[in-house]
Amino acid sequence: MTLDLFSDAELPRGKEAIGPGAFVLRGFALPFVNDLLPALQEVEQGAAFRHLVTPGGLTMSVAMTNCGRLGWISDRRGYRYAELDPETGRPWPPMPAVFERLAQASAAEAGFEGFEPDACLVNHYEPGTRLSLHQDKDERDYGAPIVSVSLGMPATFLFGGFARSDKAARIPLVHGDVVVWGGPDRLRYHGVLPLEDRPHALLGRRRINLTFRKAG
Ligand code: SIN
Ligand code: FE2
Repeated sequence: MTLDLFSDAELPRGKEAIGPGAFVLRGFALPFVNDLLPALQEVEQGAAFRHLVTPGGLTMSVAMTNCGRLGWISDRRGYRYAELDPETGRPWPPMPAVFERLAQASAAEAGFEGFEPDACLVNHYEPGTRLSLHQDKDERDYGAPIVSVSLGMPATFLFGGFARSDKAARIPLVHGDVVVWGGPDRLRYHGVLPLEDRPHALLGRRRINLTFRKAG
């Protein structure tokens, strides 16, 4: 979309600008994967994936859990961050050190130094699962970027404008890709098209997405 903002020579290999403050970092998570997967299993054991209900009463097709000090939840009362998992009444599992390292390194690679996420929303997709266009706007301040890590089955990420009806770019994401959006792009609408059934060698018929936020 805005690739022409930069000449190819200025762009580090594998870093694609999709806006003035938004980048796809191709394969950036791959060196972390061996440590990410066991850490993810621990998070799942402490806080199981569940399908949340929207304020309007619809059950989301993406299954979600969280780690870190704050977790994003939705129910009939609205969307918000909470310190306790409503399913267990306990704090969310701590953010694994490798999650934090990857989030910080990704943000820095995209030009956002000093990112300190206090929330990681973990999304679990299966074939057919989609995520409709939305803005991430439940965080207290929009100064920090969103860092989004893709693992497992490929997906088509939609990156739109500042109104839901704005045309969205279709960005193919595969295992290991990281998308970072912040600054002037922090409130861009985004979503995920229904997943195709294309099993992944390590994760099978699943796509896991980690979104790191500074929520509180
Ligand atoms: C999200 O917007 O929370 C997730 C995006 C994705 O799964 O790529
Ligand atoms: Fe989002």
